[in-house]
Amino acid sequence: MQILVTGAAGYIGSHVVKQLLEQTDYEIIIIDNLSTGFQNTIDTLKKLDSTNKRIKFYNQDLSQWEKVEEIFKENDIKEIIHFAAFSQVAESMTNPIKYYSNNTINTTNLVKVASDYGVEKFIFSSTAAVYGDVTSENIPIKEDLAKDPINPYGSSKLFSESIIKDVASINANFKYVILRYFNVAGADIDGKVGENHDPETHLIPLVVKTALGKRDSIKIFGDDYDTEDGTCIRDYIHVCDLADAHIQALKYLETNPSDIFNCGYGYGYSVKEVVEAVKKVSNIDFKVDIEKRRIGDPAVLISDNTKIKTKMNWTPKYNDLELICKTALEWEKRI
Ligand code: UFG
Repeated sequence: MQILVTGAAGYIGSHVVKQLLEQTDYEIIIIDNLSTGFQNTIDTLKKLDSTNKRIKFYNQDLSQWEKVEEIFKENDIKEIIHFAAFSQVAESMTNPIKYYSNNTINTTNLVKVASDYGVEKFIFSSTAAVYGDVTSENIPIKEDLAKDPINPYGSSKLFSESIIKDVASINANFKYVILRYFNVAGADIDGKVGENHDPETHLIPLVVKTALGKRDSIKIFGDDYDTEDGTCIRDYIHVCDLADAHIQALKYLETNPSDIFNCGYGYGYSVKEVVEAVKKVSNIDFKVDIEKRRIGDPAVLISDNTKIKTKMNWTPKYNDLELICKTALEWEKRI
């Protein structure tokens, strides 16, 4: 059976492909334009394929939808996991069209082709950014909370969610699972794949880079929030647990209707706690600067993960901040 994974040369996609190779028999069709992902990640994934024939890679931009359609003609794709997207909140504020073009328009084209070619399962990579600036009485966040994104990145994903839902409503054969990721972090436990963004903006990779001397200091964006230590609180989920949610979502759709799930641990850590965890696991002290707040950062984002834990067969295995930081650190030493 064939599955299409878009964006597999990126951070989360590569971890999912590794698990698909290890845990399933799928033949994996990859579409990635390598705009933010890396050819060497594709090479690594191919090396992990002991049969040497389970991965077929197309270096293809999704905007060229006639070429994408050719890929559907050449193959027999019945399932899709769609990661390919831009994901930097700050960049989306200064270049919204880039985000709506790639994240929303290209997803529309992909969903159209998927529906036309009889795709039965569509797993979509969405984000906690669809909820926007959540007030404290709505923490932890449930899936049915009103969606009110505060940046084009979140809006571009929310539009895509609507498109997927609307197509499913007129095509009974087309089922979806939308996964809304909280703060994804860490790296593959075996150290084969990991996080590599250019530029890097996420907290944990920046802190581990600082521990390893690749940066002079880590800047904490604001210590005057209404939280216990004044820094923002986030729900950090290990990328391998998140990858497993995609595998479980495919199984879930065998017998269940389409649905939407938060992906997080339901517990939050402050920026200062993350910095301390990296100091502890690395046994390295490093410079920490307190800066002013970063625009658009909500004080607290924590998932309510009751739905995914009760409805899907998803049991997190790496729910441990130090383990998350340690795997990120080990990966950072390799790159
Ligand atoms: N932070 C710092 N210093 C840094 C980087 C980050 O203090 O150098 C802080 C941020 O201010 C924030 C926390 O660390 O309080 C986490 O920041 P990240 O940039 O790692 O992650 P975000 O919470 O901003 O964003 C993540 C995903 C987005 C998603 C969003 C949902 O990366 O894709 O969660 O709100 F949209």
